[in-house]
Amino acid sequence: MRKPLIAGNWKMHKTPEEARAFASQLLEELKEEREVEVVVAPPFVSLLPVKEALGDGPIKLAAQNVHWEREGAFTGEVSPLMLREAGCEYVIVGHSERRGYFGETDEVVNRKVKALLDVGLKPILCVGETLKEREEGKTFEVVEAQVKGGLKDLEAGEVKELVVAYEPVWAIGTGRTATPHQAQEVQSFIRKLLGGLFGEVAREIRILYGGSVKPENIAELMAEEDIDGALVGGASLKVDSFVKIVRYNRGG
Ligand code: PGA
Repeated sequence: MRKPLIAGNWKMHKTPEEARAFASQLLEELKEEREVEVVVAPPFVSLLPVKEALGDGPIKLAAQNVHWEREGAFTGEVSPLMLREAGCEYVIVGHSERRGYFGETDEVVNRKVKALLDVGLKPILCVGETLKEREEGKTFEVVEAQVKGGLKDLEAGEVKELVVAYEPVWAIGTGRTATPHQAQEVQSFIRKLLGGLFGEVAREIRILYGGSVKPENIAELMAEEDIDGALVGGASLKVDSFVKIVRYNRGG
């Protein structure tokens, strides 16, 4: 029922020309892909060249951040309408690096989610606990606050296309992946929360796992009931490893 989604978060990597060339190579490999929805999220300045390279093929475009206003005096920011016109379908919101290094709160994340849905863009809302929070037994409490805070005042009719990414901060870029059991435990909890907030539609919302996803561990993660895809950082920067992750159920 839920189509698997594999999204590559390039973070602050690749120049516009490198990004364009990479996108062309990726399209060459994945142009027949139908089973898995594939998304790439380059930095802002590479959105247009990557979109040009991807054309109307099956790989979709995402941005890594957005401002919540449509336009205005917000130096250095980019609006939802600008991203939509640049060819984005998805936008990552509330990544732990945005929360940790740039002070994004659940309130800010909530404004961004709403602004995206208002113009028909699909948010990929990131949540996840730090190592300290996990060790203190606060994982569920933290994730609940981030899910409820990020989705405050939204209604069931608006969230069908929303994507949630569970990314334990201790697993991001560390090589230390959550076990499938650890990820499933939190992700089924997230689905229950979504059910409490929005009812039946929660069964259609895709919940991704993120944090040191690699070709070697993707299949066992995807075997879990509430893991509907992955948000991939490091391993999305090489064509070979990203394609293997996309083809997780076809022997790489
Ligand atoms: P990683 O990053 O795959 O390099 O751990 C994941 C992410 O931050 O989305």
